[in-house]
Amino acid sequence: MDLDLRDKVALVTGAGSGIGEQTALLFAEEGAKVAVNDISFDSAQKVVGEIEKKGGNAIAIKANVASFTEVSQVVEEILETFGKVDILVNNAGIYPAKPIQEMDEEEFDMVINVDLKGVYNCTRAVVNHMIERCYGRIVSLSSVAGRVGSVANVSHYAAAKAGVLGFTKSIARELARFNINANAVVPGVVDTPLLGKSRDILMEKVIKTNPIPRLAESREIANVIVFLASDAASYMTGSVVTVDGGYTMA
Ligand SMILES: NC(=O)c1ccc[n+]([C@@H]2O[C@H](COP(=O)([O-])OP(=O)(O)OC[C@H]3O[C@@H](n4cnc5c(N)ncnc54)[C@H](O)[C@@H]3O)[C@@H](O)[C@H]2O)c1
Repeated sequence: MDLDLRDKVALVTGAGSGIGEQTALLFAEEGAKVAVNDISFDSAQKVVGEIEKKGGNAIAIKANVASFTEVSQVVEEILETFGKVDILVNNAGIYPAKPIQEMDEEEFDMVINVDLKGVYNCTRAVVNHMIERCYGRIVSLSSVAGRVGSVANVSHYAAAKAGVLGFTKSIARELARFNINANAVVPGVVDTPLLGKSRDILMEKVIKTNPIPRLAESREIANVIVFLASDAASYMTGSVVTVDGGYTMA
């Protein structure tokens, strides 16, 4: 299998924690140079430290994916440092639970701006460069919430994650002729800080109803992301790959 990423440069957003952190570490283990983005510079720097300790090559870049200006600067910095961007993983996300009857417009907009517009911002910031080089691999994080809704009072999040699927399939159609593949990963419940106060209720539900009755580890999602970003997945585009322990069987 062609998972060799030795000449590749990967940008992972929200890579200071959870799934993004494990994805950045795995890219580095497979030989890629990694741009570790996060809104928290300290978190990104910590992950870069872990990569460097194992002999890998990475840079930490602070930016808010909700800002097109900031992510454009991220891409500029990567081009200056590594000369190219082969892989974009749209991973940064937030998940602030609120029942719909209490959710105000600002809260709704904030989640859409990070979880959906952030995917557009990063893709838009890097796509011309990928078109010029006729090479690109884009992997975006959706969620089972975007497919079947959520039990955790995150309707804005579910809407954003459903939007990621439509966006991914559309750009997959537009960009295939430039050798740019775009795919989405749909995790079930993954044991990361994202879950916050919803962790217990989600854990109880997963244990009762999932064919695999436990939360996923971040590494189990990262494995699939890195596969999709590699040339082992060269004939996959517009695909939605579910990694949910059998929850949706989709
Ligand atoms: N944990 C789950 O159960 C689960 C399930 C389905 C999908 N996902 C998705 O996977 C992705 C990663 O989630 P996770 O569970 O690893 O979360 P996490 O909270 O562990 O990590 C998310 C990271 O994104 C960063 N971030 C937040 N807002 C940002 C912004 N505006 N700009 C840049 N960075 C920002 C955070 O600082 C954090 O380091 C998210 O898109 C999430 O929606 C997670």
